[in-house]
Amino acid sequence: MKNPAQVVTWKRVLLASLFLLSLYYFYRAVSYRFVAPGRLGPPNPIGAGWYYTHVLFALPVLLGAPLQFLSELRHRRPVIHRAIGKAYVCGATVAAVTAVYMGAAGPYEGSRLSIGITGTLWLFFTLAAWRQAVNRNFPAHRAFMIRSYTMALVLVWLRLMFDLQDYLFFYVTNEDLRDSTREWASWVVPLVIVEFWISWLPQLKGDRAQ
Ligand code: HEM
Repeated sequence: MKNPAQVVTWKRVLLASLFLLSLYYFYRAVSYRFVAPGRLGPPNPIGAGWYYTHVLFALPVLLGAPLQFLSELRHRRPVIHRAIGKAYVCGATVAAVTAVYMGAAGPYEGSRLSIGITGTLWLFFTLAAWRQAVNRNFPAHRAFMIRSYTMALVLVWLRLMFDLQDYLFFYVTNEDLRDSTREWASWVVPLVIVEFWISWLPQLKGDRAQ
């Protein structure tokens, strides 16, 4: 039997850890692209405006999402939950579309398909979550929101896997192949883990509500 108080504590620890990791990797991504000189202009084929738009709209997603999973906020301050939710949907929609463009226009051919699928899934999960909220189908809303946030966190997963690559991808010695493997693994692995947790496991246990 699960102790509900323990579940709440673990959930808060998980959300706080994701939030802190997000801040750290966001800081690193911004330093890499915007602070270091010469990373926005030629020969980079992506115009600076795309980066600024992407980051500006992605920021409310990164900061707001962990709050959305706190049940106290949802129950006691539904107005705040709805306001952050609208900012999330708007931010994620623009950030996902700009991500797909930047992936296609960028110089890394091995990343194009992976980024295209990630961005499209991020957009789809976000709009599906919003639609299910409007339809008041809250179990489906929650599941799609978890999927959407998992995709948003590609910002974290990709860089975390980069930092741990000597352990995670020690068997891929060619540098280009390793980059490509990391790019795919950064969203496929978290999405599979999440699907196992929210969908496959409940079905295996015979929970008909899923
Ligand atoms: C809330 C989540 C996200 C935040 C806060 C965020 C933030 C950023 C930042 C700060 C950059 C500039 C750093 C860099 O160029 O390496 C960036 C670039 C980029 N992001 Fe995101 N991002 C998020 C999610 C995503 C997702 C899910 C995708 C994939 C669909 C994505 C695709 C891209 C692409 C393609 C670039 C350009 C990379 C390059 O030119 O090398 N982002 N993002």
